[in-house]
Amino acid sequence: MIRIDSVTKRYPDGTVAVDRLSLEIPDRSVTVLVGPSGCGKTTTLRMINRMVEPTEGTILLDGADTRRQPVTTLRRSMGYVIQNAGLFQHRTIVDNIATVPRMLGWGKQRARERAAELMERVGLDSALAKRYPYQLSGGQQQRVGVARALAADPPVLLMDEPFSAVDPVVRKGLQDELLRIQDELGKTIVFVTHDIDEAIKLGTMVAVLREGGRLAQYAPPAELLSAPADAFVEDFLGADRGIRRLSFFPSAALQLTTGPVIEAGASAERIAAAGTPHLLVTDADRRPLGWAGRDELAAGGTGTGRLLPYGRPFVPGADSLRAALDCAVLSPTGWGVAVDGDGRVTGVVSQQSIGEAIRAAHTESRTDPDTAGAAR
Ligand SMILES: Nc1ncnc2c1ncn2[C@@H]1O[C@H](COP(=O)(O)OP(=O)(O)OP(=O)(O)O)[C@@H](O)[C@H]1O
Ligand SMILES: [Mg+2]
Repeated sequence: MIRIDSVTKRYPDGTVAVDRLSLEIPDRSVTVLVGPSGCGKTTTLRMINRMVEPTEGTILLDGADTRRQPVTTLRRSMGYVIQNAGLFQHRTIVDNIATVPRMLGWGKQRARERAAELMERVGLDSALAKRYPYQLSGGQQQRVGVARALAADPPVLLMDEPFSAVDPVVRKGLQDELLRIQDELGKTIVFVTHDIDEAIKLGTMVAVLREGGRLAQYAPPAELLSAPADAFVEDFLGADRGIRRLSFFPSAALQLTTGPVIEAGASAERIAAAGTPHLLVTDADRRPLGWAGRDELAAGGTGTGRLLPYGRPFVPGADSLRAALDCAVLSPTGWGVAVDGDGRVTGVVSQQSIGEAIRAAHTESRTDPDTAGAAR
């Protein structure tokens, strides 16, 4: 565990970048530092690997004061990734990734094998190995930066706005990749961003800093959304706090019904027996085709020519209540469509049922904060 204990950084010109900051950064999880520009995020990150020395206070790594160990040993245990990846422009991708293992005295062959393994792990095509950084897209360069930081298998990864220079789609891909890598490798990641949505998506714990390097709140993301400590945090979280919080509630407990689900070609009796004015028509393999009015279906047989779109279905269990609600809100009938992992309909759910599930989830999370799980 990394423990930041009442740390202050005053730069020589008198600027107080970090002011008596205390944080306990748990092992094998992602801790995010978030806050407006100039609030001391980079300074804090660099104090962890001693690129910046604290003016006051101590930083402990597994209980030991980081000042008492050689700075080279410390840095070897901490990979560092920055915006725009900071790659060596005159080295190929494979040599960029192999930099630290080579510095540690690994043979060329072994270091290159390690680099190839890491390229695969971060989702880079091996065909890119011989290219130079300028021949890669911004997103690919960021992946190289992550691979390079992982090369010597350090237990800690420090990441300073690593994904902020790429477009939103690439960024989402990189974030998903990071969560997957974290799941597989169990690194202790300290991640700096000024984007609160990125913080909420990635963080197990999120530290919100304010101007002057003071800690405004340190909490799991679901708690930040439900109970911001003050007006600054609330303002920083922005609009739609309630809706965004629903991403932390699972959709598994939703009451699905199969009454309104019918197969194309179903009998007139079956159509008449459905209790709802709208029916979801599926193919013989139970894949959704679209919605139809019951009376219209009964009158015109089971032609599927004029079906209303069913929107984007959700997967109960895998998707959150937010996804289920979005589904129902987008649906022309107000009903959300639930499918299994293979896209086969398992039932439909009304907005009213989703509303009830939301109320139940809120009540439960008030009595037991642990139920606000990580259904991201
Ligand atoms: N070497 C330095 N000398 C003097 N002041 C500095 C130095 N480095 C940073 N600062 C100041 O310390 C404060 C915190 O800077 P820091 O870079 O840690 O902020 P940040 O939260 O990372 O900002 P950003 O989101 O813009 O990257 C700022 O006011 C900055 O101007
Ligand atoms: Mg910074």
